[in-house]
Amino acid sequence: MIFTALILLSAIVVAAGAGPAEKKFSLNWRTDGPYPLDSVDELQEASLSNFAAYLAKHPSASNCTLENAARRMEWHDFTLAQRQEYTKAVLRLQSKAPIAPKKQFPGSMNRFDDFVATHESQVSELHSTPHLLPAHRLYIWAYEKALRDECGYTGYQPYWNWDRTAADPINSPLFNGDEYSMGGNGLPVKYAGVPTDGFAKPYDIIPSAGGGGCVTKGPFANMTVSLGPFDKTVPNLPNNPRSDGYGHNPRCLKRDVNKYAAAVTTANYSYALITQNPSIDDFQNVLLGTPAKNDWGVHIGGHYTIGGDPGGDFYSSPGDPVFYAHHGMIDRLWWIWQMQDPEKRMSVLPSNPPATDTVDLGFAAKVAKTYDLNNNIGGYDGQFCFIYV
Ligand SMILES: *[C@@H]1O[C@H](CO)[C@@H](O)[C@H](O)[C@H]1NC(C)=O
Ligand SMILES: *[C@@H]1O[C@H](CO)[C@@H](O)[C@H](O)[C@H]1NC(C)=O
Ligand SMILES: *[C@@H]1O[C@H](CO)[C@@H](O)[C@H](O)[C@H]1NC(C)=O
Repeated sequence: MIFTALILLSAIVVAAGAGPAEKKFSLNWRTDGPYPLDSVDELQEASLSNFAAYLAKHPSASNCTLENAARRMEWHDFTLAQRQEYTKAVLRLQSKAPIAPKKQFPGSMNRFDDFVATHESQVSELHSTPHLLPAHRLYIWAYEKALRDECGYTGYQPYWNWDRTAADPINSPLFNGDEYSMGGNGLPVKYAGVPTDGFAKPYDIIPSAGGGGCVTKGPFANMTVSLGPFDKTVPNLPNNPRSDGYGHNPRCLKRDVNKYAAAVTTANYSYALITQNPSIDDFQNVLLGTPAKNDWGVHIGGHYTIGGDPGGDFYSSPGDPVFYAHHGMIDRLWWIWQMQDPEKRMSVLPSNPPATDTVDLGFAAKVAKTYDLNNNIGGYDGQFCFIYV
C-alpha cells in the first residue's frame, strides 16, 4: 500500500509512533503479509513526489488526481474477502452472454471469452510496436470496467507482484488452490517444456515444472476454456473445430505453475529493467527479453509462471484469469518507469509513432489515440484515472 503510505504519512506516523520500517506495515488489511517492500515498491514510493510535482504542472482536464484515482492493489494485499469478490466477479463474467460478433467468434461463449477473442484477433494491434504497452493498458482497463459495470465488482483490477511468489509460486496464496487463490496448479503431465525462440541452450526452453494438466482446485477448477488453442505448449489439446481458432472447443483450464520462469521475475530484474533503460524502446525490448544476454525478461517470466493452456498460448493467454494481474504488473512497471522523469517519459512511445496513431480494439473499447493511453491520470479522454498502490 505504497501510495497511502505517502499521502497518509503524517497520520500513520502519529498512529504508529514509530520509525519508517513500522510505517510500512501499519496497515491492517495485509492478510498473508506483511510483505516487506521490495526494491521496486521502494522505487515507486520514492517516485511519487516527483510525479505529484508533474501533475501539479499538468493537471488533468478530467480532474483526476493522485488522491481521487482508483487504487489498483497487489493481489496479496487484498483481504481474503476482496480476493473472493474478485474471483466471483470473474466467474460472473464467464456466465454473461457474449457480445462478440457471433459469426466471427462462434466459440466466444461468454463475456470473459470476448476478451480472449479480442486478444486473439487483435494480436498485432495489441503487440506491434508501439502498441504493446498502451494497448494492453486499455485492454486491462476495459476488463476491469466489465467486472465493475457488468458483474457488480466494487474493487479494482489487482496486479501481481511476481517477486512475492517467485521463490515458491505453487505454494503462494495466488496459486495454492484454496478458495481465496486464483486456482491451483495443473495436474502432472509429461512434456518437454516451452521453447523460447532465439535463445541459446539451455535458455532455449523453459523446463516443465511438474504441472501442465487440468486445474482441479480453487475458484477456477471447473472453468471451461473455449477458443483456440493457437500455440500448443502442453500435451493433449484438442484442435479447434475452425481453422481460424475461433470455434467452440471446450476443455479444462491447464497450468504448469513454473518456478523456472518465476526465477527471472524477482524484484531485482524489474528494478534493473526500470532503472537501466532510459529509452522507452530499450525498456520495451528488455521487458520482452534479450536472447543475447540469456535474459527471458519479466514479461515471459510472468506468462510462463502461469503456463499451460491457454496461459502459455501467446494468442489465447488472457483465457487464464491470472493474465490480467500479470499484465497489471507490467502496466505498473511502465508507470514507475514513466515516473522517473515524467516531463519526458509521459509523452514517449517506442518507435515514436505519429500523433495521429490510434489503438482500435474493436468491440472491446472505443478507439483511442495511442499517446492518450500514456496517461493513467486523465488519459483516454479522461476515462483513465488509476494508480498502483
Ligand atoms: C474540473 O474541475 C473544474 C473546477 O472545479 C470544473 O469547472 C470542471 O467542470 C471539472 N471538469 C470535469 C470534467 O469534471
Ligand atoms: C466443480 O464441479 C464439481 C462437480 O460439479 C463440484 O462438486 C465442485 O464444487 C465445483 N468446484 C468449484 C470450485 O466450482
Ligand atoms: C537477480 O538476483 C538473482 C539472485 O541473486 C541473480 O541470479 C540475478 O542475476 C539477478 N538479476 C539481475 C538482473 O540483477
